[in-house]
Amino acid sequence: MTNEDAELQGCVDDDALGVCVDWTAMDLDASRVAALEPALAAAQRSMTALEAGAEANPDEHRRVGHYWLRAPELAPDPSLRLAIEEARRDVESFARAVHAGEVRAPAAGRFDRVVVVGIGGSALGPQFVSHALGGARDAMPLHFVDNTDPDGIDRLVARLRVSAHGGDLRGTLAVVISKSGGSKETRNGMLELAAAYAADGLRFAEHAVAVTGDGSELHRVAKAEGWLATFPMWDWVGGRTSVLSAVGLLPAALQGLDTAAFLAGARAMDEATRRPGWRTNPAAALALAWHLAGNGRGDRAMVVLPYKDRLELFSRYLQQLVMESVGKERGLDGAVVHQGLTVYGNKGSTDQHAYVQQLRDGRDDFFATFIEVLKSRDGASIDVDAGVTSADYLYGFLEGTRRALHERRGPSLTVTLREADARGVGMLVALYERAVGLYASMIGVNAYHQPGVEAGKRAAAEVLALQARVEASLRAAEGAPMLAADVARSLGEPDVSLVARVLRHLAGGGEHAVARVSGTGLLAASYCSRAVS
Ligand code: PA5
Repeated sequence: MTNEDAELQGCVDDDALGVCVDWTAMDLDASRVAALEPALAAAQRSMTALEAGAEANPDEHRRVGHYWLRAPELAPDPSLRLAIEEARRDVESFARAVHAGEVRAPAAGRFDRVVVVGIGGSALGPQFVSHALGGARDAMPLHFVDNTDPDGIDRLVARLRVSAHGGDLRGTLAVVISKSGGSKETRNGMLELAAAYAADGLRFAEHAVAVTGDGSELHRVAKAEGWLATFPMWDWVGGRTSVLSAVGLLPAALQGLDTAAFLAGARAMDEATRRPGWRTNPAAALALAWHLAGNGRGDRAMVVLPYKDRLELFSRYLQQLVMESVGKERGLDGAVVHQGLTVYGNKGSTDQHAYVQQLRDGRDDFFATFIEVLKSRDGASIDVDAGVTSADYLYGFLEGTRRALHERRGPSLTVTLREADARGVGMLVALYERAVGLYASMIGVNAYHQPGVEAGKRAAAEVLALQARVEASLRAAEGAPMLAADVARSLGEPDVSLVARVLRHLAGGGEHAVARVSGTGLLAASYCSRAVS
């Protein structure tokens, strides 16, 4: 074994920071690592330019400034620095005023819970942080509306009412988050909540705050209706990297979490992940390992296994951070590349009783990432066996699974954190933000746009427009039954099965004046308009 091979058997272990990236079980080959070092060095140069204010999102002609959020002095111009600092101050003073009852609900006197409305980057980060750092002593519990599912919203509203003192929403503060201010799921969640407040005889505006871009549709609504406050979101912060802006800080501050430590952890990790090369840079080590594991093409999925309940949403958060950043049709040079890196996971040791069976014995198409947290709990532990605690078992299961996978040639990384506190969670966020940026740069894709998400939004709008035409066509038939083919013909719509699915939706949801008349099978069923009961 050469010295280089021996080094590759080791870890990027930063004791001062309290983090270690261990690639012992990746079986990395020194010559392949060496071959990638120039690409890593180029990615690190691009990252330096990005942090200095280069237009790192060329398709949208935007700068990429999430690193400035925890180091405002690095922002390339003073107005940005001031904006970041002012937003942080505003978030903290608003949360303090809410906790003190100075910002108050007109009927209840004091807000005692928060419902956050948002989607994608405007929900996943706040959800992850809330779950990771929340506990019994939270200043205010957080709840989330992150979908346009009316049944999901009803269930949440019912739970909020049942658990509230007055049996209604008067003590519930609504935080509506949308960078663009135009995501329909978030707009719908806001409208549904506003209706629920109205049903309780309350004015939504007196219970609502917004986090959004200046001048967005949401911003206009909040200003016009006189909401309690608005907080900024900037075009130079991407949704999935916005958790250290007001998007994540406002919910966290309202929950009573230590936002200063959260920011400080991210800042400390940024300092470590600016180091050149990979030997002392945990994010560079991750990016290299991802590249080597999947041949720079994502040939292996990344299975994320945090062995800590409070980190269980990390895999969901990472799924968006990585897959929305890396999953691209075209590279930076415009060539078709169909890149991606599949991420899934939940938590250990729970998942050992689920899909880990396949990882160990089935398809050889993944690499695992174990997230280990050294601090087991606050307070003392009981022995569950002589001299053995529950935490020893958790560790044993992690180590055992790691070994079992390795024996079967399933490569794995282990990221060890000293503690999953606010600082540790801030470090984790910054570690993966940097790793995904470096990896995207190494494989030549723009990590900071999401044309696929935008395409999905446009397609949904087209379906809703078709739905209105389908309903109108049935109405024009004045109750006469129509097959999907008849409706499609009347509309000049070539996609008959889409029309059939729209008809099934209209009749099945119980919200539209459409009834299924007869026929079995998607295309054989006929429908008619019916009187609204
Ligand atoms: O990462 C992203 O940019 C997206 O996932 C967005 O966060 C998501 O589409 C929500 O967008 P918005 O915050 O504009 O409502």
